[in-house]
Amino acid sequence: MILNNILSYAKCVLLEVLEPGSIAIDATVGNGYDTVFLAQQVGREGRVYGFDVQEDAIEQTREKLNEECLPKNWKLFHTGHENMLDVIPAKYHGEVSVVVFNLGFLPGSDKSVVTKAETTLKALESSLKMLAVGGLVCIAIYAGHPGGEEEDVAVREFCSTLDYHSVRVIQSEMTNKPGFPIRLLFLAKLK
Ligand SMILES: C[S@@+](CC[C@H](N)C(=O)[O-])C[C@H]1O[C@@H](n2cnc3c(N)ncnc32)[C@H](O)[C@@H]1O
Repeated sequence: MILNNILSYAKCVLLEVLEPGSIAIDATVGNGYDTVFLAQQVGREGRVYGFDVQEDAIEQTREKLNEECLPKNWKLFHTGHENMLDVIPAKYHGEVSVVVFNLGFLPGSDKSVVTKAETTLKALESSLKMLAVGGLVCIAIYAGHPGGEEEDVAVREFCSTLDYHSVRVIQSEMTNKPGFPIRLLFLAKLK
């Protein structure tokens, strides 16, 4: 049942654009679940670039990718997603099918390391430059932690100012979840 979990729903939408040979970015690798999903979809001919500011997250993700025996179609960067334009090869700028953001902190690790509005917005601007026409940015927002609400408001304000003719923005949320309603934003690049 895909609607048990909002991230399963997100994956169904992402599968509309991911295909063998796609280029994808996991902007917040964390435990690596999304990175593995992306690497499985893009296959041997595709590429996945992953980012995280925590060395532990990068190492866990590397282990998970190796356990899955995936082709070496991935590369992880121990740096902030706000640097994606500097480290992803220029030949892929404008060619990316999917950029995934899972905001907040990594469950089971240092809860003081969280994504922050300023760097997230810079990374979203870069993501729109990286995307191919027809590509998608998917942002999962959890705002129950300190600083989370500011980031939530900043991200939604940023998205609401994007030109309607260039980018379509669609928001979904798990409205009846106790506490903060987990939000998903999809940004679809039209031109
Ligand atoms: C909610 S977790 C991601 C969960 C992950 N997608 C998964 O499948 O396990 C958020 C991650 O963002 C990372 N993070 C925080 N600031 C960042 C930044 N500027 N650039 C990249 N990652 C960042 C944190 O270290 C944390 O691992």
